[in-house]
Amino acid sequence: MAVENMLEISHLTYVFPLSGNLFIKALDDVSFSVRRGEIFGLVGESGSGKSTLARLIMNVYQPCSGRIFYKGIDTADPRAFRQNKGMLQTSRQFIFQDSGTSLNQRMKVEDIVTEPLRIAGRKPDVSYRRTASEALGQAGLNEWYLDRYPANLSGGERQRVAIARALVMEPELIVADEPIASLDASMQAQMVNLFHRLQEEREFTFLFIAHDLAMVKFLCSRVGVMYRGRLVEVAETKELFKNPLHAYTRVLMASIPIPDPRKERGRKIPVYEPDSEELAGELLEAAPGHLVRTGRQDQ
Ligand SMILES: Nc1ncnc2c1ncn2[C@@H]1O[C@H](COP(=O)(O)OP(=O)(O)OP(=O)(O)O)[C@@H](O)[C@H]1O
Ligand SMILES: [Mg+2]
Repeated sequence: MAVENMLEISHLTYVFPLSGNLFIKALDDVSFSVRRGEIFGLVGESGSGKSTLARLIMNVYQPCSGRIFYKGIDTADPRAFRQNKGMLQTSRQFIFQDSGTSLNQRMKVEDIVTEPLRIAGRKPDVSYRRTASEALGQAGLNEWYLDRYPANLSGGERQRVAIARALVMEPELIVADEPIASLDASMQAQMVNLFHRLQEEREFTFLFIAHDLAMVKFLCSRVGVMYRGRLVEVAETKELFKNPLHAYTRVLMASIPIPDPRKERGRKIPVYEPDSEELAGELLEAAPGHLVRTGRQDQ
């Protein structure tokens, strides 16, 4: 594996069994890599497999087939996972949409933020309180929050506490599954700025999952577009916006809201009509670094 790749996903497939012989193919032959220190955006409509992919990467689920390399370690191999468990649990952190709501209600913010350090048996150089205060500060909250409980915080504040909790471990990789979807538009913009700044300061690798393209445009260096369990296009963000090749990507772009309500009102949002040929094809390089599932791309 090339050293510059923090994460390398290869031919990943995942199936949810339903009753009887029924099953859902949530991921179908997904391959891509995330470079060290980049912010990679993963977008796609609801049900396209984004959360399933995040959970596989974080070892919540075991893939049906395919491999996941994190810093060269095949984390989907149970033996390699067991051998590196401690490192994997600290150097990778997961933030999800409801991270804020799943905080322990009985714990003070200070203890919530420093709990991962205690679990990992890691004593900070300074006091736990100071460490919590610094992590909160990075997530945009002052020390006044240290003695408060989650029930007394707003949704945005709780989500920031969850982010501080992830940061305290000084992760090398953060996988964030729609971390700001539950927040209002102005808070979302603030949080995107915060992620941007934090990533620059801390230089972690960031896999950022979102429903739509509006946020990834600002935040991400590269983007992968998912549709029904398959990756249909991967490109540098600028290239993707300038030259979207897959019909589904074009529909996603057309559905980004226009800030002008008059224009927005009269706008017709196109719908993607799945094309089996287009979806079944291989992910091939159409231009340097720009991959797309082949088929008809000329409409
Ligand atoms: N626990 C489960 N049992 C059965 N099917 C599931 C389960 N979780 C997800 N699925 C199915 O797997 C597919 C992918 O779901 P996933 O949650 O990964 O999508 P997503 O892209 O994260 O969607 P969203 O944007 O709504 O969060 C969907 O068809 C979904 O119905
Ligand atoms: Mg999801």
